[in-house]
Amino acid sequence: TNIILLGPPGAGKGTQARRLVEERGLVQLSTGDMLREAKSSGTEMGRKVAEVMDAGGLVTDEIVIGLIEEKLKTEKGKGFIFDGFPRTLPQADALGELLQKAGQKIDAVIELRVDDEALIDRISGRYTCGNCGEVYHDRSKPTKVSGVCDVCGSTDLRRRADDNAESLKQRLMEYYKKTSPLIGYYYALRMLRTVDGLQDIETVAREIAAILDGLQ
Ligand code: AP5
Ligand code: ZN
Repeated sequence: TNIILLGPPGAGKGTQARRLVEERGLVQLSTGDMLREAKSSGTEMGRKVAEVMDAGGLVTDEIVIGLIEEKLKTEKGKGFIFDGFPRTLPQADALGELLQKAGQKIDAVIELRVDDEALIDRISGRYTCGNCGEVYHDRSKPTKVSGVCDVCGSTDLRRRADDNAESLKQRLMEYYKKTSPLIGYYYALRMLRTVDGLQDIETVAREIAAILDGLQ
């Protein structure tokens, strides 16, 4: 099964993708994670993307499509969860072509619908484990022991450089301008399924599971 998780910054894509990895053995392909990795590696490409990401802009299609193409060749699993990709119409076309070449297809596009007000709250309360990547929230999902990751015990809990009011405004703008047209694109292809992302994490996970169980 190959699925796309589509939704604005803070909608819960990463949170749900991590659960699907654990529960279904799917491979999470997050372009945001790949780009953050590139950023911290200090390579030429990392330096180029860091500035764009921190300001909340979109990295060029060429770079992200290249990253995905590479991962599709090397990663193996029961299928892929595309998290934060595609984000533009050219990226959507490229993904369709790459999968087709590999004799595969997208089985469902799951849109997590969340309004702006909730997104601001989610982004401003988010922190992640620098060691294992688990995602937390000050109120909706705090660590059990303050300052210690539930999953791996690391104390390296961090906030993202782009999780500030100014970048978030830009990220939302980019989403509405360049990514939200994908909702119509996948609707027309009869692939779109919408889940109310304002519900709690468990309920959203249950609804996604029901969609996946209903696919043949
Ligand atoms: P990326 O890393 O993809 O960030 P994003 O899309 O902005 O999404 P987020 O990671 O912010 O949110 P999420 O939906 O995963 O929510 P989460 O689960 O963390 O991209 C970062 C940057 O990289 C981009 O701005 C761009 O520059 C670049 N980039 C990446 N991909 C690109 C591409 N394809 N093309 C071009 N550029 C690209 O949840 C958020 C918070 O809410 C957490 O604290 C969580 O605990 C909490 N939460 C989650 N679900 C719930 C719930 N149901 N109820 C209550 N709280 C919840
Ligand atoms: Zn951890």
